[in-house]
Amino acid sequence: MKKVAIIGTGYVGLPTGVGLAELGNRVVCVDKLADKIDKLNRGELTLYEDGMEELFRKNVAAGALSFTTDMESAVKGADIVMLAVGTPPHPVTKEADLKYIYAAAEELAGYLDGYTVVATKSTVPVGTGDEIEQIIAKVNPKADFDVVSLPEFLREGFAIHDFFNPDRIVIGTDSEKARKVMLELYRPFEGKSEFLCVKRRSSETIKYASNAFLAMKIHYVNEMADFCECSGADIREVAKGMGLDSRIGKKFLNPGPGYGGSCFPKDTNAMAQMGKKFGSHLNLIETTIAENDNRKVKMGRRVIEAIKEHPEGKIAVLGLAFKGGTDDCRESPAIDIIKEMIKYSRNITVYDPKALNNAKSILNNTVSYANDAEEACSGADVAVILTEWEDFRTLDLGRLAKIMNCAKIVDLRNMLSAEAVKQAGFEYQCIGQRK
Ligand code: UDX
Repeated sequence: MKKVAIIGTGYVGLPTGVGLAELGNRVVCVDKLADKIDKLNRGELTLYEDGMEELFRKNVAAGALSFTTDMESAVKGADIVMLAVGTPPHPVTKEADLKYIYAAAEELAGYLDGYTVVATKSTVPVGTGDEIEQIIAKVNPKADFDVVSLPEFLREGFAIHDFFNPDRIVIGTDSEKARKVMLELYRPFEGKSEFLCVKRRSSETIKYASNAFLAMKIHYVNEMADFCECSGADIREVAKGMGLDSRIGKKFLNPGPGYGGSCFPKDTNAMAQMGKKFGSHLNLIETTIAENDNRKVKMGRRVIEAIKEHPEGKIAVLGLAFKGGTDDCRESPAIDIIKEMIKYSRNITVYDPKALNNAKSILNNTVSYANDAEEACSGADVAVILTEWEDFRTLDLGRLAKIMNCAKIVDLRNMLSAEAVKQAGFEYQCIGQRK
């Protein structure tokens, strides 16, 4: 059993805290936002993750998991302090903004007592561990501590599943003592996951290099989809054939409207900036970023092109979240595509099963909002699928064809069966097939 303090209760900190408590540790989660902590202390979760609620309740009730705004009480006596605060992109430079990390390091430094491992879960640029070390040593020269890079690879919507089933656990430190503490913490995963103990800078790089690679893989399959549209091949068949090669792998070969979310856009940009900083230009990543941005503009225009015979016609948008299974609209391709369409159309109605409220705070009154897919599609000249919600797979196509003004679907997630859609009388466009 370890005593763990987790600083930051967002998409990384909260599921990690819940998971570590479930593994038998005593976890205190700290956040500056008093409202958030009050809510958690009242037993209400501040974000949705499949399977989290039950574990949260169980561990709070058992006294293994608690929440506070008081850094001192959480850090004093902790064996491990995890930094899980945000590292948002700087609005101008696009570098990861480290002000929250540095502020947390400065604050926690004064409260360290006894040997403590300070582990960075937030995604931070290479060399940040060195900076944190210096900050802590400056504030508290007597502190006995090591700074470890402990990158987090969990996906939104699958955070609890990913916590308990990690592909690998990367521990970045040169300190034997710190490594031992971290290996003890993750002992329950022995024999189940790969452990990789590496230099701190390698560990920091692994996180960025992995996310950038996955973003490039998506960009690559999107580029192949464009090629298929011109050459007469079918991307579904091509991606399947590629994925069967175990060296390539089946995952992350779904073409779509471009990648989004709180990680890929931020991390690819930060990685490109690091390349410049260290004098090693990352051309593949820079191209991926630029092409992914272009793609969203191209997709918006594709929809506008689809209603060119009814330029005033209604566009029904199905899906606003950056991917299915989450209410998160941060860097959602759907939002950027809608912003492009707004330049040409004032007649857009949107629907999402979970993300309507988050989308409203971004799109305001530039679009209309519907309470279900049918309401969005009623009288529409085209329906556009922008997020891969399972609900959209089972749309009542016969009914939609009746209530729409024009039976036309642009499926930018390749969710529907072309056969079924055409049979229901629709004109159907998807990604990576010639029209
Ligand atoms: C990602 C990483 O997967 C995770 O390891 C890291 O810790 C955080 O960033 P997440 O942002 O939750 O996780 O989403 P992910 O499921 O990876 O999807 C990212 C984006 O890529 C989404 O917009 C998704 O729709 C898109 N995507 C994904 C595709 O377009 N095609 C694919 O085949 C896979």
